[in-house]
Amino acid sequence: MALVPRVFLTSEQIRTRVDEMGAQITADFPEGPIYLIAILKGAFVFLADLARAIDTPSRVEFIGISSYGRGKTTSGQVKMTKDLDVSIEGHHVLVVEDIVDSGVTLTYLMNVLRQRRPKTLHIATLLDKPERRLRPVEVTYVGFKIPDEFVVGYGLDFAEDYRNLRDICILSEA
Ligand code: IMP
Ligand code: MG
Repeated sequence: MALVPRVFLTSEQIRTRVDEMGAQITADFPEGPIYLIAILKGAFVFLADLARAIDTPSRVEFIGISSYGRGKTTSGQVKMTKDLDVSIEGHHVLVVEDIVDSGVTLTYLMNVLRQRRPKTLHIATLLDKPERRLRPVEVTYVGFKIPDEFVVGYGLDFAEDYRNLRDICILSEA
């Protein structure tokens, strides 16, 4: 059966919300630098837009975490595939994620980052699927709460495809 992406959130809706999130983060952190730590690869598009919506001086770093194989559900096994290149000790840190699903990835990452003694440590996610949570995660900035559907586009993939779609789409079988 063919997989068909159907538009769920348009690029305009996403832009409006990301701008609001950036304004909120700017207000909450008047003093920089903020270390924006994006989780590869899915968060790369959100990071690019969110960073430009934040007026506080910010720095951009990337971390690699993998918990998914080629399927649609977590393998439950989390590993770091790329560590940070810098120390975050004493700095404001904002983890930038595309979507929080089971919460397994962020639970693991927050434990790792907390041990490195940042000044503050928060999460900004574009999407949140609260129904699917297996581990509780405290997420400070949420773009959209969405139902339990598999979504692609705006950085999000299915087996590495669809990341370049401008809109966020639900991937379903035709
Ligand atoms: P968690 O550890 O289950 O919270 O998984 C979070 C990660 O799973 C995200 O960073 C995404 O890479 C991936 N993921 C979860 N749900 C979706 C989805 O609907 N579409 C694409 N990727 C997803
Ligand atoms: Mg991800």
